[in-house]
Amino acid sequence: MVLTPDARTRLLAARKLQTATPLTLDVFTEYRHLLDAPGLSYDERRGSWLAARYADVNRILLDTKTFSSQRTLNPDGSVDEVASASILGLDPPRHRHLRQLLAQAFTQRRVAELEPRIQAITNRLLDAMDSHSTVDVVDALAFPLPVTVIAELLGVPIADIGQFREWANDLLNTDFELRAKAFERFAIYFDGMVEQRRRSPTEDLISAFISAEIDGERLSQRDITGACTLLLIAGHETTASLIPIVLWCLDEHPEARAELTHHPELLPAAIEEALRYRAVVHYLPRVVTCDVEFEDCRLREGDLVLPLFAAANHDRHHFPDPDRFDMRRSPNRHLGFGYGIHLCLGATLARLETSIALRLLLARFPTLARDRSQKLELRPAAFVYSLKHYPIRLRN
Ligand code: HEM
Repeated sequence: MVLTPDARTRLLAARKLQTATPLTLDVFTEYRHLLDAPGLSYDERRGSWLAARYADVNRILLDTKTFSSQRTLNPDGSVDEVASASILGLDPPRHRHLRQLLAQAFTQRRVAELEPRIQAITNRLLDAMDSHSTVDVVDALAFPLPVTVIAELLGVPIADIGQFREWANDLLNTDFELRAKAFERFAIYFDGMVEQRRRSPTEDLISAFISAEIDGERLSQRDITGACTLLLIAGHETTASLIPIVLWCLDEHPEARAELTHHPELLPAAIEEALRYRAVVHYLPRVVTCDVEFEDCRLREGDLVLPLFAAANHDRHHFPDPDRFDMRRSPNRHLGFGYGIHLCLGATLARLETSIALRLLLARFPTLARDRSQKLELRPAAFVYSLKHYPIRLRN
């Protein structure tokens, strides 16, 4: 994608506004209004067009020629591949090539093989909770589980997990400087890691990326750094956010919680419904590549469009009674993992981690309940809906 200088200036200005605008706990009320309005709505705060309706979101996600994922540009107008977090910020054909490579690490078979390890990590974390009466699910389980799994897959030392948390927090933050610094830190970290693996390769993903070839060509250092940063962040931040969200949905819907107690086999359906009802990833921006008319709105080259997965999941034209939490909803074609060519690569892993974590947690502490003495709060983030803490009483 090559934008005219004018379009580039507008895109950079819009990106600053969009990344600086945090999601709020009650953002779903805003989505309800958006769903009632026809076409796209222009949001001054985010300097972006908002697409809420399911059909519009799908159309945008499928038309990658008009709606590009290449949203992070260097000052010279080229795509910043590290800050774009690898394939997430690329369009075809380059996206397709890199995705094929990354996808090999996340096939159904490869992910299924991780099950015993995920169970072992979960049990260790639950053992550590056992002697407490109240714990924060985020700190005690939801964060350490997926970050350990992805760190082991990539082959980075578990001792470094603490600093990842801090950097990942900054990376999703609404403060532009913090975000830029966090990208730089990840780039420096993984550059060092890649150098180490070049000297002594092992069985991990970093070594696999170093030796991989696409059309007879090796991946560049930037490609590898970008892929590692993306997998590390996407591989834990989202799942860490989903685990407390499922518990929160069940807390708010005691009839669903009771049904799940009698029918634990409904847990995967409860997780899908939580992904629909209260999506973790609310949108990922797209850049308009040429002047175009969309649902009576005149979009200009360089405009930013936000396809709101989280709002589309409440579109009554697609989901009957959309504001009801219904574990037995079928079909449930939610957009919690996106749609189209960027459909989440880690969905199978995320589902497995979340279901193991919650199955073992609820089996060990069947009477656990949210500690309502503490108010729920979101982390300051533009597109990820993530609770700072989710305190629970383990026993009643
Ligand atoms: C609850 C957990 C998760 C949620 C809600 C989630 C959500 C998403 C969404 C909505 C997208 C699409 C972005 C777009 O259209 O621009 C996406 C892409 C992606 N996700 Fe996930 N994700 C989760 C877990 C994971 C995990 C565990 C991994 C890896 C280990 C992962 C890796 C990726 C990658 C690599 C992409 C980019 C795919 C591409 O651009 O082709 N995700 N995810």
